[in-house]
Amino acid sequence: MAAPAPPLIEVTDVGRTFADGTRALAGASLMVPAGAITALVGPSGCGKTTLLRMMGGLDAPTSGAVRFAGGARPRAAFAFQEPRLLPWRSVVSNVALPLELAGVPRGERRARAERILDRVQLAGAGRKLPGQLSGGMRMRASIARALVTEPELLLLDEPFGALDEITRQALDDLLLALWGEFGMTVVVVTHSIVEAAYLGRQVVVMAPAPGRVVGCIKPGFASRTPALRATPEFAASTASLLQMLAQSMVREKGAA
Ligand SMILES: Nc1ncnc2c1ncn2[C@@H]1O[C@H](COP(=O)(O)OP(=O)(O)O)[C@@H](O)[C@H]1O
Ligand SMILES: [Mg+2]
Repeated sequence: MAAPAPPLIEVTDVGRTFADGTRALAGASLMVPAGAITALVGPSGCGKTTLLRMMGGLDAPTSGAVRFAGGARPRAAFAFQEPRLLPWRSVVSNVALPLELAGVPRGERRARAERILDRVQLAGAGRKLPGQLSGGMRMRASIARALVTEPELLLLDEPFGALDEITRQALDDLLLALWGEFGMTVVVVTHSIVEAAYLGRQVVVMAPAPGRVVGCIKPGFASRTPALRATPEFAASTASLLQMLAQSMVREKGAA
């Protein structure tokens, strides 16, 4: 068996209490292995977005620690459920925007944006405006914009949650292909247990009030291709995730 990958991020006993007294996280701990996909699942309000923001350096714990391998924060990029494209800019110039902000010369950023657009199957759509694209295409443009700087860490907050199931599955497969090519570490927050089990080498289950980690499963499928979704081993993984989530809700009620 291969040795486990060293963690890129180590979240240790993290708490986060906001200025208004809301305890978003209390005692949350998890490891994010380098170069793998980690999925985070849990009901609304359990602190998933807060945790993701901490991993990307947009928020900080009020107790506990978020540590990075080598001590330096990895270069991170975010994508969200809403593609957040600038409606007046063409698709290619939306995708090139992070390079523009980083001061990359025009010719190079154009070439890099076109290359990544090709990788997300939007080669022919670069000159269009975001409003001319379907929801799935807009999300692919958003993923391309996140990847154009070749980040070490890709943070996805319910990225495909607004899409229909078939489009969502196609984007899950595209994400796996991009991950296979670039090898970045991915943390993806999702409400879908099916998506979490399909994408995650580990799936971290969280519970709310206050937000914490209640379990982790490591599906360990030999390969992840669309046919996997119809197999008994896949069903077993989603069933154990569902059970873990349900148990955390029962404890919740008991405590109330
Ligand atoms: N800036 C903030 N100020 C006060 N409360 C917040 C803030 N951001 C998030 N919260 C609260 O913290 C909890 C966790 O939020 P969040 O991390 O967004 O959860 P999730 O992404 O799992 O739905 C929720 O109760 C939310 O309302
Ligand atoms: Mg959220």
